[in-house]
Amino acid sequence: MGTQQHYDVVIVGSGLAGMTAALSVADTKQVALISKGQLLSGSSDWAQGGIAAVMDADDSIHNHYLDTMVAGANLGEADAVQFVVENAPNSIAWLKDAGVPFTMEGEALHLTREGGHSHRRIVHAADATGHAIQSTLIKKVLAHPNITVLEHHIAVDLITGKHLAHAGEQLSNADLHRCYGVYVLDTQTEQVHAVAGAQTVLATGGAGKVYLYTTNPDSASGDGIAMAWRAGCRVANMEFMQFHPTCLFHPHAKSFLISEALRGEGGILRLPAKVGEPANSGYRFMYDHDERGELAPRDVVARAIDFEIKRHGLDCVVLDMTHKEPAFLQEHFPMIFARCLELGIDMRVTPIPVVPATHYTCGGVVTDLSGKTDIANLYAIGEVTYTGLHGANRLASNSLLECVVFGQSCARDILQQTDVSIKSAPAWDASRVTNADEEVVISHNWDELRRFMWNYVGIVRTNKRLERAARRIELLKGEIDEFYKHFRVTSDLLELRNLVTCADLIVKCAMYRHESRGLHYSLDYPNTAPKAMPTVLSPKV
Ligand code: FAD
Ligand code: SIN
Repeated sequence: MGTQQHYDVVIVGSGLAGMTAALSVADTKQVALISKGQLLSGSSDWAQGGIAAVMDADDSIHNHYLDTMVAGANLGEADAVQFVVENAPNSIAWLKDAGVPFTMEGEALHLTREGGHSHRRIVHAADATGHAIQSTLIKKVLAHPNITVLEHHIAVDLITGKHLAHAGEQLSNADLHRCYGVYVLDTQTEQVHAVAGAQTVLATGGAGKVYLYTTNPDSASGDGIAMAWRAGCRVANMEFMQFHPTCLFHPHAKSFLISEALRGEGGILRLPAKVGEPANSGYRFMYDHDERGELAPRDVVARAIDFEIKRHGLDCVVLDMTHKEPAFLQEHFPMIFARCLELGIDMRVTPIPVVPATHYTCGGVVTDLSGKTDIANLYAIGEVTYTGLHGANRLASNSLLECVVFGQSCARDILQQTDVSIKSAPAWDASRVTNADEEVVISHNWDELRRFMWNYVGIVRTNKRLERAARRIELLKGEIDEFYKHFRVTSDLLELRNLVTCADLIVKCAMYRHESRGLHYSLDYPNTAPKAMPTVLSPKV
């Protein structure tokens, strides 16, 4: 039998956004911090390159603003961009005070460079910045007496006024559109609990797993986006799924990223060398595509690689670092160096085989600058959101930054709320049973969905491919709804249900955009419209 638990603040997701919010409210609030895996399961722990902030006298907040706008193909929202870049130096100070061991150069922070940035402004901890941040914050979270950690608990759905009304409670119209917490499946006991909170925060990360090839961890199944959509929140800009240009191409390397910081430090993209010629002699192709070469924004570089791979019938291109000092490579990129070497690639002498892969969800749940969503008492922060920061393409290293800035602004808003009433939620209906025969269908559907999304809704799109994807999504939605209604919930079924919702939202947004801009490139509409708006979808509730 599921339990009923009560907290002041229920935070779903323990990545950088969730941990920042938890630590920023916990001195005065009782917090539940929920993760469907271990606390470190999320993209944050895997982040490599760093976190963008203006920390140098030669740079300016306005430069960071302009670079963010240009990378976002001018679809970013000015107030959101300004808010984030202005708050960046304070965010770095907060992380430094927490004890994050950033790479230093004498007394100052060492700043590296990435594509789309006009200045060196990437604060980092060698090439494992996310792990340095998360392993520092986790200690603070675990030591905090007011934070209850619920690992291996997967959120199923938000509890809204509709659940309470369904259970017979009389509610005003305003209370019907309020969030009261979340149902969570404890994947170890297989029970669903009602976790009630005065405020609920979605910090569930992105939806990279919608695609077959991704740099993202398994947790990135778009759960928060799908839950918020079902609960009645608007979702925006889902057509802008970011493909990172350089994911390691190797049969034994699942989802291993080769950081953009390598290109920032002089990495050269080449076609593979001809047989019998030196490994680093392949043609350098980026300047055929963009005058910024390897440092063009990600959408441009990923499209160029995709074009070259298709044009020459290749499996991959290569990223050449062989001209750099070996000691520099080992000092600046120790993790990537070691992983490549483990797989037999010595980057001192051999260029690294790379391909583009889905990396980041630029769209998501619509929020204001405090993380407030369309539903009262429900916030969303981090990659799960559409805040207006990224526009049509995210600037490198702006995502960790967004997690800290919005984690803190959401916390400030929560601390100002005076409405702290917590309602009990109706217990979960546990009468459904599993049907072992159907489990195999669930895994087939997972595979089918991710494969056709890669093939039909990838780097280059057409109306026909989008229509094909839309038809398949309708079929899958029907089947998955059937499973959900009749069978006991499992994490695979829950994630599949959320993935298909996100796929549907991506395709719908892509169909609405009749132009090419940033990460959305359509052969049917190859031009960029003179003026464009975000694609905002409203659920039928
Ligand atoms: P995440 O860190 O992804 O955390 C999500 C959390 O939600 C996890 O704890 C997960 O278990 C939990 N969760 C999800 N669904 C549920 C559910 N239903 N129930 C319970 N819990 C749930 N960005 C940068 O700015 N700089 C970088 O250098 C950088 N490098 C990157 C490298 C890689 C390989 C990847 C994949 C991404 C990188 N990014 C980088 C992007 C950045 O890491 C992410 O956008 C950011 O960390 C997202 O943080 P988050 O807190 O929103 O979500
Ligand atoms: C990377 O290190 O290339 C990832 C940076 C990012 O996603 O911002």
